[in-house]
Amino acid sequence: MTGPFPETMDYIGHNAPSRIEAEIYDLVVHGEIPDEIAGAWYQSVPDPQYPPLLGTDTYLSGDGMVRMLRFENGHVDFKQRYVRTERWQLERAARRALFGAYRNPFTDDPSVRGKRRGAANTTPIFHGGRLLALKEDSRPWEVDPRSLETIGEWDYEGRLRSETVTAHPRLDPRTGELYFFGYEASGLASRDVAYCVADKNGQLVREDWFQVPYCALMHDFIVTQEHAVFPGFPIVADLERIEAGGPHWAWDPTKESFVGIMPRDGRVEQMRWFRARPCSVFHFVNGFTEGSKVHIDMCVSEVPAFEFMRVAGDLHVPQHEVQGNLVRWTFDLSKPGDTPEEHVLGPAGDFPRIADKDMMVDYDITYYARVDVNFGPPIVSGPVGVGFNTITRLEVKTGKMTDLFVGPNCTAQEHVHIPSRKPGHEGYLMYIVDRHDQNQAEVHIVEAAHLENGPIARILVPMRLRCGVHGNWVPQT
Ligand SMILES: [Fe+2]
Repeated sequence: MTGPFPETMDYIGHNAPSRIEAEIYDLVVHGEIPDEIAGAWYQSVPDPQYPPLLGTDTYLSGDGMVRMLRFENGHVDFKQRYVRTERWQLERAARRALFGAYRNPFTDDPSVRGKRRGAANTTPIFHGGRLLALKEDSRPWEVDPRSLETIGEWDYEGRLRSETVTAHPRLDPRTGELYFFGYEASGLASRDVAYCVADKNGQLVREDWFQVPYCALMHDFIVTQEHAVFPGFPIVADLERIEAGGPHWAWDPTKESFVGIMPRDGRVEQMRWFRARPCSVFHFVNGFTEGSKVHIDMCVSEVPAFEFMRVAGDLHVPQHEVQGNLVRWTFDLSKPGDTPEEHVLGPAGDFPRIADKDMMVDYDITYYARVDVNFGPPIVSGPVGVGFNTITRLEVKTGKMTDLFVGPNCTAQEHVHIPSRKPGHEGYLMYIVDRHDQNQAEVHIVEAAHLENGPIARILVPMRLRCGVHGNWVPQT
């Protein structure tokens, strides 16, 4: 038998594990789905098979599901399946958890020593004809884009040397190239970072290694048309602590943040290092090069949004007191000095998305998620324990904001932007709304330029959908 899951934030309420692999044809639709919305929306969802080995764990350890909503001829079909990682298969066979604490193999059951720990639970990306489920502590797992059956771990036909691949690769919409990196590339708490490029056909054409000042959590990075930018923030790994069975990450504000900038097609030896105040960033909105200046826009929180990283650094701040902003750092490469200029662009939030056409260039519009307590009290949902209730369209040049409240007793999972083929049309946003009063979900589609009008279509999903992390839209080809 399987015992109960712990009564902690990561496993209660909407965060209760679902463990349901499901397939539903022809979801019920209210309203009209525009004809031009044709393709598949993939999301990664951490959803633990078994209660944690050590009594409790973080949401981020959950076994990865890939969730697919496929839009064809006005019909919407739903499917979600576990990625059959090595970790998942071993635990399935044992009918219990075998892997211990988040990113700490020294806490594992001896029977799985040396086995692959990756849970493939953070981002699904479609590139070079392959659907890859990514998690930053391990290599990608390939999944069939229609059946969602697991094909196997993907190491670029044996060419990838890095042990890890970020869950935030950057796709250049002009060239089709996928830029990515792996940190802790040579193993636990290492300072080695691999900078990689796969061409439009999915072939690995570049992998160059460099060292960062210290082993920091590097969740995301920035690529502009001219530069690659590698920021790190003082959430720090320490091998001694990990070997002693302690947490992988601990917040350490005695260290500064660092940012490495290099010509994106240049040599890693050309990296110029900058330093900045200690803060926490998980997601970048966009970045671009303007003459000698490199701008990076990001969701800053003053301390980590994840409680377990704060507590490991002996910082005890309630979730609702974590402050932040949407911020731009500007680096002038023509000048000496090693610190950026900082400008606030908007209020705190996360899950920033922009139109693909705006990636890596000067842009004006982002859509991001926020918690607005004016609309209602916080609701437990998702990895940090508070679900977003507002989606905001922000014009970064003017600061003009439009808010969309997703509904009473509701939270929204990460939205995706879908481009339109109509001239001058800003496209659509699509997102899952968790109906906490009904234990069901809806998929809402809104016109990106007119959030104030609310959804033009609502698609009903007759089950609770555990909160995913990231997703991507793949147009029908
Ligand atoms: Fe992320």
